[in-house]
Amino acid sequence: MEEILKIKDITKVYGKQVVLDKVNLSLGEGEIIGLVGPNGAGKTTLMKIITGLIKKYNGDVFIKNENIKENIKHDTKQIGCVIETPGFYPDLTGYENLLFFSEISGLKDKNEINEIVKKLGIEDYVNKKVKKYSLGMKQRLGVAQAVLSYPPILILDEPTNGLDPAIVPELRKFIKYIAKEKHTAVFISSHILSEIELMCDKVAFIQEGKLVKIENLKEVKRDNTTIAFITSKIEELRNFFNERKIEYKILGEDKLQIVLNPKHLEDLVLNISKANIPLRSVYEVSESLEEKYLRTMGE
Ligand SMILES: Nc1ncnc2c1ncn2[C@@H]1O[C@H](COP(=O)(O)OP(=O)(O)OP(=O)(O)O)[C@@H](O)[C@H]1O
Ligand SMILES: [Mg+2]
Repeated sequence: MEEILKIKDITKVYGKQVVLDKVNLSLGEGEIIGLVGPNGAGKTTLMKIITGLIKKYNGDVFIKNENIKENIKHDTKQIGCVIETPGFYPDLTGYENLLFFSEISGLKDKNEINEIVKKLGIEDYVNKKVKKYSLGMKQRLGVAQAVLSYPPILILDEPTNGLDPAIVPELRKFIKYIAKEKHTAVFISSHILSEIELMCDKVAFIQEGKLVKIENLKEVKRDNTTIAFITSKIEELRNFFNERKIEYKILGEDKLQIVLNPKHLEDLVLNISKANIPLRSVYEVSESLEEKYLRTMGE
C-alpha cells in the first residue's frame, strides 16, 4: 500500500497551551482512518494543519513524500476537505456551486459531477439555492465538493454532524466507495463511535494533543478470543473450569467468560456437554469501540 500522507512530529502551540504534541501518523492509499477524542483534544487543529488552513506549526506534513511547506502553491487537487461548515455561494444552486468548484479545480466532466450527486443522494435539492439549505444539506453538498476531483486524500471533520440518522449509512457507503474504488486515503473525525467502527480500517485516539494509540479495527485475532457462556448451572460450569485450571471471569449469575484459542472451542463445548452441563448460549465477545475508547481515554 502506497503511503499518501505522513504526519511527522506535529506540534502546535497557542499561547501557553500545547494543542498538538508531537503527533505522528501515516495514511495509505485507500485506507480509512478515524480520529476520535474528547472536545478540545486537537482533532480539528490537526486536520487544519494537514489541509494547509493553519500554516504555523512545528513538524512536517508530507503528501506523497512532498513536504507541504515546500509546496508553495499548495496543490488543491491533492486534498479534498470538509472542515467546519463548508463555504458556498448562497445565491447559486448546489449544482452551480459544484460546477464552479469543478471548473477552478480543472475538472470539466459533468458526468462525473452527476455521478457524485447521484451517489450521495442529493439530486432532490441540488437545484435549490444554497441559502435555502439546512445544515445537513450543506454538509452533504460539502462532501460532494470535496470529492469532485477525486483527490488522493479526503479530510472530513465530523461529516455526519447534523445529518439525520437515515442519511448516515448512505454517506458511509459513499465514503467506503471513494476509498475502495478511487483509492482515496480518508481521514475522518467523529464523536459517533459506532460510525467510526463501521467505516474505518484504523482508529487513532487523541487526548490533550497527544496521539495515545492507533488501533487496527480490521485485524482478526487468531490466537486469543474472549468467549462467553450462559448456563443455568453456573456452579457446575465453574467447577468444570476449575478442574481443568482454565481461568474465567464471572459476568453475572448465569454468565461467565474465558479467553482461549478459538480452534479449541468445539472440543471444549463438546466436553461441557458430556459433563451434562447445559449451555443456553456460547458466543464470542468483542470489545466495542466505545469500550475501547473509554479504556484508552481512562488510562
Ligand atoms: N485559534 C485558536 N486560538 C487559541 N486556541 C485555539 C484556537 N483554535 C483551537 N484552540 C484550542 O485548541 C484546542 C484544540 O481545539 P480543536 O478545535 O482542535 O479540538 P477538537 O478536538 O476538534 O474538539 P471538538 O471535538 O470539540 O471539535 C482547544 O483547547 C481549543 O481551545
Ligand atoms: Mg473539532
